[in-house]
Amino acid sequence: MSGLFITLEGPEGAGKSTNRDYLAGHLRDRGLDVLLTREPGGTPLAERIRELLLAPSDEKMDADTELLLVFAARAQHLAEVIRPALARGAVVLCDRFTDATYAYQGGGRGLGVERIATLERFVQGGLQPDLTLLFDLPVEVGLSRAAARGRLDRFEQEGQAFFEAVRQAYLDRAKADPQRYRLIDAAQPLVAVQQSLDGLVAQIVERVRG
Ligand code: TMP
Repeated sequence: MSGLFITLEGPEGAGKSTNRDYLAGHLRDRGLDVLLTREPGGTPLAERIRELLLAPSDEKMDADTELLLVFAARAQHLAEVIRPALARGAVVLCDRFTDATYAYQGGGRGLGVERIATLERFVQGGLQPDLTLLFDLPVEVGLSRAAARGRLDRFEQEGQAFFEAVRQAYLDRAKADPQRYRLIDAAQPLVAVQQSLDGLVAQIVERVRG
């Protein structure tokens, strides 16, 4: 038995967490075993790495350090949470995964794609998400939503150009693999976003039940 690995991606302020909870609720109503998790994080140790990554600091974090920390957290998360859940046949709904590394460390920080791909193979082997929901919205809308939430983390303190590069990297990846990605216009009102998720629920149930 193997479950279904679904990731949610998008820039800050795209409503990923709200929509993740909405989707999880509907899938559970249909009787599926759903595991909700997030990256960086998802285990006590990986959450400690998350704190290192998100806390603003006077010492500038080197981009390679950032990349390695992201994958260190991911290795722990895969071993402790994601692989066991998939092995028992659960639907894993993960708020961000390796597409975020290509978008933030690749697009945003300008690290080479090959370097990221090498670590991806090392940490994941052949494991890839079955489905990725990309919540896309204009950078300024996302940033103003994030600012309204209060204190900004280390990534949220980046400027417009960084987030334009993040958005473009996400869109390029989605375009290159339309089978895996569903592009969702997150600038729409929440009800409209959730209507498009309703359509996905039936497809997901069908895929899990085969
Ligand atoms: P969030 O999930 O609460 O939005 O915060 C996580 C932050 O971490 C977000 O700004 C994106 C960033 N991030 C990366 O830079 N690389 C990654 O691989 C992941 C998973 C997240």
